[in-house]
Amino acid sequence: MLCAIYDFNIYLAWVIGIYTFVHSVCMITKLVIRNYFRKPLNIQERYGKGTWAMVTGATGGIGEAYCLEFAKQNFNIVLSGRSLEKLQDMEEKVKKINGKVKTKIVTADLGETVDVDFYKKIYEQVKDLDISILVNNAAWGEVAPFDEKSLDFHLGNARTNAGAPTMITHSLIDKLTSRNKKSAIINVSAAGQNAPVPYAGVYPATKRYLTIFSYFLHDNFGDKIDVQNLTPGYVSTKIVGHRKGGDTISPEVCIKSSLRDLGQEFNCLPVIAHSIYAQVFHTLYRYCKPLYKVVVVDEVEMTHLRKFYNTHKEPLSH
Ligand SMILES: NC(=O)c1ccc[n+]([C@@H]2O[C@H](COP(=O)([O-])OP(=O)(O)OC[C@H]3O[C@@H](n4cnc5c(N)ncnc54)[C@H](OP(=O)(O)O)[C@@H]3O)[C@@H](O)[C@H]2O)c1
Repeated sequence: MLCAIYDFNIYLAWVIGIYTFVHSVCMITKLVIRNYFRKPLNIQERYGKGTWAMVTGATGGIGEAYCLEFAKQNFNIVLSGRSLEKLQDMEEKVKKINGKVKTKIVTADLGETVDVDFYKKIYEQVKDLDISILVNNAAWGEVAPFDEKSLDFHLGNARTNAGAPTMITHSLIDKLTSRNKKSAIINVSAAGQNAPVPYAGVYPATKRYLTIFSYFLHDNFGDKIDVQNLTPGYVSTKIVGHRKGGDTISPEVCIKSSLRDLGQEFNCLPVIAHSIYAQVFHTLYRYCKPLYKVVVVDEVEMTHLRKFYNTHKEPLSH
């Protein structure tokens, strides 16, 4: 009897070992193919020439990079943000890249409310445009002790990062699904959706929400809409104090990877370093908390967050 149990355990260990090995080889192969060999689809052909891309949070960072790339590819652009002045600057940048594209400015502070009428007003401004790509990008992150901030502060964070993508997607879903060609929705989540970090609980939670929402959209509307869940690690933008070096990438690299995968893969982790980072983050948080605290929440990270918090008592994007 003991002998049989021993044999069974040996077989089981082999099966698990082989499965893990094959799984790892497949994952690495996929990463290499995606990062080094995959060609982007022709998005003008796929979504329609002369159609519109709507980008929220178009006034800097990743949103700006999307706008400029879409302009290069002859998409007309709905620029959405909360500062009219910044949006007008962006409009100029877009026109400089490609004088032929049309632009439409939609000013809205997405942290203000999730009131239906507020979003109806946004919809009214774009309802006559053939929007083929929606990028739910606007967000801000709090770097502050949870109990030092008001409830409205945290809810404002949730309204911007999770409420707005839900409301805007809902208002546009009929338009996006009733086109002759495919449409696209890019939800800009974050690698940070995998676990909370010190001083940041609501932000990663909203990003997790966006990921699950993306899965839902993909499952329900995938035949009509290419849904992408973009989960970058660090990108050098305002939200992370324009951090540089290490595994930090530029907004241009981030969106190049996003457009490389759009229509071909649901999840986009822009570069290999971000894939590894996300996997380690996820695994350690779930299975080895003490090591997670040492490796992920290390002194460098803490120093960065402390410095960030001390310099900006309010989050930069708020
Ligand atoms: N940078 C990273 O390391 C990183 C990593 C993972 C995911 N992401 C995600 O990438 C997306 C873009 O962020 P980013 O890195 O490009 O940072 P960013 O430069 O700070 O851009 C954020 C954009 O969102 C806008 N925004 C913020 N709050 C808003 C509000 N209440 N109403 C309307 N617009 C608002 C900002 O407008 P203002 O110009 O008016 O502030 C800005 O245009 C976000 O979803 C972020 O969570 C970033």
